[in-house]
Amino acid sequence: MSSTTSVHVLQKRPFRLDGTDGLSGSGDWYDGNPLTTQLFNAYTLLIPNGERFIIRSCRHYLNRTAPELREELEGLFFQEGAHSREHRRVLEAMHAGGLSLDVFRAIIEWLSYRVLEPLTPAKFHLATAAAIEHHNAVIATFFLDQDLLKGVRTGEMRRLFLWHFAEEIEHKETVFKLLQSISRSWLLRVIGLFFSFSTFLLYWALGTFLLGLKTRSVFTGAFWKEGFGQVRGCKGLFSALVKESWRYMKPEFHPSLKESRTLLVSALAELERLGVDRPRPGMRVSPPLFPSKFRWKMTRTLERFHELQSRHPFFFSRIDDYDGAWVHSEGERKLNFCTYSYLGLLGHPRIDDAAKRAIERYGTGTHGVRLLGGNLEIHEQLESSIAAFFRRDAAITFSSGFMTNLAVIGTLVGKGDYVLSDELNHASIVDGCRFSRAEVVTFQHNDMADLACKLGGLPDGARKLIVVAAVYSMDGDIAPLKELIELRDRHANTILMVDEAHSLGVLGTHGRGIEEHFNCPRQIDVLMGTLSKTIPCQGGYIAGSHELITFLRYNARGFSFSAALSPVSAAAARAALEVIESEGKVRRRQLMCNVSYFIRRLREEGFDVGNSETAIVPILLRSESLAFEMAKQCNAGGIYVMPVVYPAVPKSAERLRMNITCDHRREDLDYAIHALVRARTAAKEADAAVIA
Ligand SMILES: Cc1ncc(COP(=O)(O)O)c(C=O)c1O
Repeated sequence: MSSTTSVHVLQKRPFRLDGTDGLSGSGDWYDGNPLTTQLFNAYTLLIPNGERFIIRSCRHYLNRTAPELREELEGLFFQEGAHSREHRRVLEAMHAGGLSLDVFRAIIEWLSYRVLEPLTPAKFHLATAAAIEHHNAVIATFFLDQDLLKGVRTGEMRRLFLWHFAEEIEHKETVFKLLQSISRSWLLRVIGLFFSFSTFLLYWALGTFLLGLKTRSVFTGAFWKEGFGQVRGCKGLFSALVKESWRYMKPEFHPSLKESRTLLVSALAELERLGVDRPRPGMRVSPPLFPSKFRWKMTRTLERFHELQSRHPFFFSRIDDYDGAWVHSEGERKLNFCTYSYLGLLGHPRIDDAAKRAIERYGTGTHGVRLLGGNLEIHEQLESSIAAFFRRDAAITFSSGFMTNLAVIGTLVGKGDYVLSDELNHASIVDGCRFSRAEVVTFQHNDMADLACKLGGLPDGARKLIVVAAVYSMDGDIAPLKELIELRDRHANTILMVDEAHSLGVLGTHGRGIEEHFNCPRQIDVLMGTLSKTIPCQGGYIAGSHELITFLRYNARGFSFSAALSPVSAAAARAALEVIESEGKVRRRQLMCNVSYFIRRLREEGFDVGNSETAIVPILLRSESLAFEMAKQCNAGGIYVMPVVYPAVPKSAERLRMNITCDHRREDLDYAIHALVRARTAAKEADAAVIA
């Protein structure tokens, strides 16, 4: 195989900086050398949008490339996207430290991406991208070859540059191959080189100088001594760039990974030693050699995910700690509006103690499925507590709420039966309905006339299951239970299942859920709930009659073929129910007080919160970009909130979702409202700028 057609598998390394502490770029973090420090800082200034330019330039030709090269380019897009994302995080830290040269960046980005890019043909962009990649590889080789990263004092910065530079070398052939496959014109290659010199390298030099001015290091002898060292003789960076540019202009030139093999191997080994090449907790990467049919299936999602993560660092960010209404994420403390711990029970000492005692007694796991030897006393105790709490004969627990819906709906109805499902039901209900093979009849959200009409059209003799949520997880509104009961009673062979995921502890004087709220005790046939929200554990349950629970115990495959709930979760959940009995009333009163205040104030500020009456408060924005921009602004202002977009909600129903707890204080809610108002103004301005 000739070097022009060889394929190099570009690894999708799950690199992520561990927080941004010490990354503000201040101080001579490069071994006290002021010029090299600013060279690295200036490099970071250019990377976030520079890498995106390379992605755009190559993606333009993606459909015209051979499948093997396309595969290689996908790896490159992943790597460039990740470089852009991580350098953006460093840039934010630099910005916070006053070192990000915002005006300079705005000018060069305007000039490059708003003026030059639209005015020049796509081929020029690709040629420029190829030359930039070549220059990047020269820079990376320069630093790695001389082992210059040894001087980086901040561990994270060292990891970042080692990873980035190794990957730059690794993919130096890729863009060149793409350029060659589109055009072999020597002139085009030289034009690309010219643009790389007059933009990337010039900006880099200017940025280094300006940062030197800002940090006053240009006024030191050390800065200039280092500078002369780089330009003088044949060993400096400048000379390497000139020599390699000359080589790049030769008609027969073709970059090859082979020439950098030794360097690359040692850099990759060092990366692995630092734990970069191995997936870290919470990160998933697709193996590079996944068969192409599967890769095509995954591509769009992966691209969208990486795009979102590179543009919105808060998206899928890591949680380090919780304390009350606060969350510690990616090195920052923010007011938490993403929790389900509505009554603030996560971390409650009584619940934690119960979990610890269960570990001491049972260890962490079970012996497998309950029917075959995994049935522990704590499971039976938990089920008795759930049954007693909801005033039912019995209860059964599953390994998650999702599993409960999936397993139970398919056990209650099947082929030839009907399931009537609210259009806004949770995904676990939707999947449970599909999985059951019953005919699924969807009715409009909370619309009892529509349900009555659809029920009326079904045969009396057929089994019919109505399934709804007590509180809707994206909207916070409540199902009209009395009307549902009435409709159930009016139709033969019909039963009612209600998912109490977000109503346990929230609705009813004692937090017993929707039946208590509407004063309709023991009316729901299949009372479903989760142990992962107000109850801060994991698992799901059904409470009901003896006959229902026994039937499920022997028929629900998600119970009889899945390992039992862990004893730790079971013990903690049981303790949580006791806490709800003893402290729930006070906590719930505080929660509902917060909810009505928050909803009222949001409406006064002109936000659309739909029909929410509970701890879930949607802020309907009806635009994905606005939802992301608002969430970004809020997160920057210390409010931990996430955008909810398609497919979690229908298109044009995009929103922020704010979950309220009893731990939020009045001033927290006021602070959040101010942040939302500010974010709305900023997001609209950003939107207007884009349209203009
Ligand atoms: C209404 C509803 N039902 C079921 C579930 C699934 O519960 P779990 O997360 O415990 O699996 C959720 C989860 O958010 C939910 O909102």
